[in-house]
Amino acid sequence: MTTAAPSVHARELSAAPDWWRQAVVYQVYPRSFADSNGDGLGDIPGITSRVPYLAELGVDAIWLSPFYPSALADGGYDVADYRDVDPRLGTLADMDELIAQLHAHGIRVVVDIVPNHTSNDHAWFQEALAAGRGSAARERYIFREGTGPDGAEPPTDWQSVFGGPAWERVADGQWYFHNFDVSQPDLNWANPEVRADFVKTLRFWSDRGVDGFRIDVAHMLTKDLSEPLPSAAELAAMPQDGTHPLLDRDDVHEVYAEWRAVFNSYDPPRTAVAEAWVHPSRVPLYASIESLGQSFNFDLLEADFDAGQFRRIVADNLALAAQSGSSTTWVLSNHDVVRHATRYGLPDAERAADGRPTLKHGNEWLLSGGTAPVLDAERGGRRARAAALFVLGLPGSAYLYQGEELGLHEVAEIPDAARQDPTYFRSPGVDIGRDGCRVPLPWSASGTAFGFGGGGAHLPQPEWFTTYAVDRQDGDPASTLSLYRHALDLRHELQTAEELEWLDLGRDDVVAFARPDGWTVVTNFGTEPVQLPAGEVLLSSAPVESGTLPGEASAWLRV
Ligand code: NOJ
Repeated sequence: MTTAAPSVHARELSAAPDWWRQAVVYQVYPRSFADSNGDGLGDIPGITSRVPYLAELGVDAIWLSPFYPSALADGGYDVADYRDVDPRLGTLADMDELIAQLHAHGIRVVVDIVPNHTSNDHAWFQEALAAGRGSAARERYIFREGTGPDGAEPPTDWQSVFGGPAWERVADGQWYFHNFDVSQPDLNWANPEVRADFVKTLRFWSDRGVDGFRIDVAHMLTKDLSEPLPSAAELAAMPQDGTHPLLDRDDVHEVYAEWRAVFNSYDPPRTAVAEAWVHPSRVPLYASIESLGQSFNFDLLEADFDAGQFRRIVADNLALAAQSGSSTTWVLSNHDVVRHATRYGLPDAERAADGRPTLKHGNEWLLSGGTAPVLDAERGGRRARAAALFVLGLPGSAYLYQGEELGLHEVAEIPDAARQDPTYFRSPGVDIGRDGCRVPLPWSASGTAFGFGGGGAHLPQPEWFTTYAVDRQDGDPASTLSLYRHALDLRHELQTAEELEWLDLGRDDVVAFARPDGWTVVTNFGTEPVQLPAGEVLLSSAPVESGTLPGEASAWLRV
């Protein structure tokens, strides 16, 4: 099993321009990471204070979810000013210090850019409201007249992603379009001023030393809203082949070609990763080096802990990466989904014919407050450790979500009054929302807010966080934290060419592959033990005895 924790190497910042290709990127959700001033919200100095933790963990980069001024109607994805820091989280000087500290510890920094929509508090939107219909200020957004008598009905029957209508009426009677919350008006990407402003933002952060960008809903920016607008049913029936009025349009890549020129004007070139929920055949367009350069692959977020599903996902995504020339990405959890330790401890998802889960995975359990179906937390944790070693053994880049290195579970028992996610408010009783994976981290088993900060925590932390606290796991060679530290340390040594060769160990529920230089990864998705190939066991997620890997476990070997 996990051997002694590795010694901490102070790593140099990699000078290679393609540092991102196989990077381990750790997602920090700033408001829930560490709180330096005791106001219950995590902040930038809090993250800076934990840079040694991130360095010891061994990550190559962090991705910061939005830290910009925001009313927090959507956890910060409602940005009021793209070139500033929310005063509750710190200052631009604090950001400069964080970037400097991360770089000094060999860690690169990726920030989140939210270009599809602003907050309704953004100066542009306030200007648009004041300026009235037909104004240049309204042209930066998507305003339309309503339908029906006096235009009192919305322009279309479109629904927002978070539930409820996608149009909101303003005082003078016009309506504006919002794909997400009512407080997130969509920008008009046909407007040159909008395009120019985002170039300014990319340069602003690049000049401050930011190394890359995560592009929020990268497939949604450009739209064809020529009249007559289709109905929701017509929209749903339209193919998503680059010509859809709202999604994954070919012309969005004109925007990214312009951004690419900005990225490449820096040394090393700034990187970008697309959050693009598109058909797999369209992923290479975003991942192409003429476009954003890398795209998230979310397939594992929807998969069960299942050998067939994992094998197919790896094969498919390596093939897509070969098409785009980019490296592939692996994601088990992020701030939008039920944590994978929990998903793996619940019954497998019910699936439609195309293999997609019919319900948001884990939603039923969340709606029950965590009581039904029954969570097998231990099994979920065991499988999560196995999945982590599987993913960290793959070629390409791995994105970790804060707390997964602790084996943290989703928090289901958040009282309704404490919930924050707009999905919960806009779809009452249907989707409980994403608060359960955004609860502030437990740094210590005791003390105020489990060491998150000196005040409370902005989302309530459950008592069972004690078990997962960093100080409980630190120094325990069998802990999940030690497993991640050891895996990341070894990965730096073992990761070379982006190559993988499948191995057949004669069992459908066992997936094995070889990487260059004899690095071999075996994952037993079944419950029956499996005999490992001959070789030195470097690391395993559960104890290996006499060369036998137990069920629901992974091992790394040198053969
Ligand atoms: C995707 C982000 O990951 C999610 O958290 C957010 O709610 C939507 N985009 C809207 O910005």
